[in-house]
Amino acid sequence: MEHELVLSQFDALFEGETNLLAVFSNTSALLKENFEDQVNWVGFYFLEDTTLVLGPFQGKSACIRLYQYKGVCQKALELNSSLIVSNVLEFAGHIACDSASKSELVVPIYKDGKAIGVLDIDSPSFRGFSYKDLVCMKGICKKIEEKL
Ligand code: SME
Repeated sequence: MEHELVLSQFDALFEGETNLLAVFSNTSALLKENFEDQVNWVGFYFLEDTTLVLGPFQGKSACIRLYQYKGVCQKALELNSSLIVSNVLEFAGHIACDSASKSELVVPIYKDGKAIGVLDIDSPSFRGFSYKDLVCMKGICKKIEEKL
């Protein structure tokens, strides 16, 4: 239910909106609001060459640059796939921007078939994300991609 609600809230918030900074900023706020108990950080990173650079987010100040071959966000791009890491402490090379983060969900974002960045979500709980959460976040990213 929560998932359907957030997807329909996205549609209502951004109907006809073309300003991408507004879309990315408000999407991070929308997700933080809707998953308040489950999420301590949510935001976007965008590719500059092979480096992911911090974009709009909600949560504590975070690492600005994520370099290739390091961390969960870059791993999702390398695998060309969404990822759930249920325990970041067991993920070799995980980049801990906020020590409260215990699990993480990452969804790559594509434009014209090429990855341009990721949606990154952290939870303060181990196993903080379900398959349903993943489907919902992929749905959000799909809606964003329609605006790119
Ligand atoms: N944990 C991420 C880095 C970004 S922060 O979580 C905001 C990673 O390992 O790629």
